[in-house]
Amino acid sequence: MIKKCLFPAAGYGTRFLPATKAMPKEVLPIVNKPLIQYGVEEALATGMHDIAIVTGRGKRALEDHFDISYELEHQISGTQKESYLQDIRLLMEQCTFSYTRQNAMKGLGHAILTGEPLIGREPFGVILADDLCDGGEAGGVLSQMLKIYNKYRCSIVAIQEVPQEDTLKYGVIAGSELEDNVYLVSDMVEKPDPEKAPSNLIIIGRYILTPDIFDILRQTAPGKSGEIQITDALLTQAKRNMVLAYRFKGRRFDCGSVGGFVEATNYYYQQMLAE
Ligand code: G1P
Repeated sequence: MIKKCLFPAAGYGTRFLPATKAMPKEVLPIVNKPLIQYGVEEALATGMHDIAIVTGRGKRALEDHFDISYELEHQISGTQKESYLQDIRLLMEQCTFSYTRQNAMKGLGHAILTGEPLIGREPFGVILADDLCDGGEAGGVLSQMLKIYNKYRCSIVAIQEVPQEDTLKYGVIAGSELEDNVYLVSDMVEKPDPEKAPSNLIIIGRYILTPDIFDILRQTAPGKSGEIQITDALLTQAKRNMVLAYRFKGRRFDCGSVGGFVEATNYYYQQMLAE
C-alpha cells in the first residue's frame, strides 16, 4: 500500500502573470475546480489518502481550499448551493493534508527533498498538478502506475511520446521495453536539445518514488538551470537499482502553459456538459 502523495507546489507560476500575482497557480480553476483538486482526486482514487503539499510564500489559498470555510458553510447551509461543495467535502473527509514550505526555488528535486519530513521512509506518489491527466477508462495515471509498482517495487515515471522538437521542455528517458508500455530506464536527461535527446519519450508529472531517492537527492549536484533535478537523481537510482518508465493510457494537458490550460478547460467543460 502506498498511502502518501506529494505535491510540489511552490513555483511562482510566472507564465500566468498577472493572474498569479496574488493567487497560487494551483488554485486557478479548470472550469469550476482548482487545478490541484484534480490532482488530489487522482491521488485519492489511487488509495493515497495522505496528501503532502510543498508550498511557498503567498500560497495560503491552497491550505484554505482544503479546509472548512465556516462563514461560507453557514451562509449556504440548507440551500441548493450546498451541492457545489459536495466533492471537496468528500475529499476533506477522506484525506489528511500536511504542508511544508520550500523557502528557496532550487528545483523540483529540491522541492521533493523538502517534502521528506512529511513522507518519511516509505514509497510515495508525486503529482505535478500542472500536468492534468485523464486516464479515461484505464483509470487515473497514478493508479495505472501503482499496478506496475506492485509488480516491480521500484521507482516509476510516467512517460509520453512527443514530437522530437519538444524534448527541450521535459525530462527525456532512454530504455528497453520490458513489457507492453513499460521501459527499463538506461538514461535520463533533463530538457535536452532535440538533436541530443536520447529519445522522444518525455517524463510527465507523475512519479512513484522509493524513499532512497531522498538520500540520492541530498547528494545530487545542481544540474540543468543550476537547479537540483529529480531527473538526475532518478538516473543515479536507475544505475544503482532499477527505474521504470511507463507509457500511460489517456490524455495529458500541460496546464503550465496558457494554451494547454485553455485546451483542458474546453475538454473538461465538454465532459461536464455530457454528464
Ligand atoms: C518538470 C521536470 C521534467 C518533467 C516535467 C513534466 O519540469 O523537471 O523532467 O518532464 O516537470 O511536467 P518543469 O515543468 O517543472 O520545468
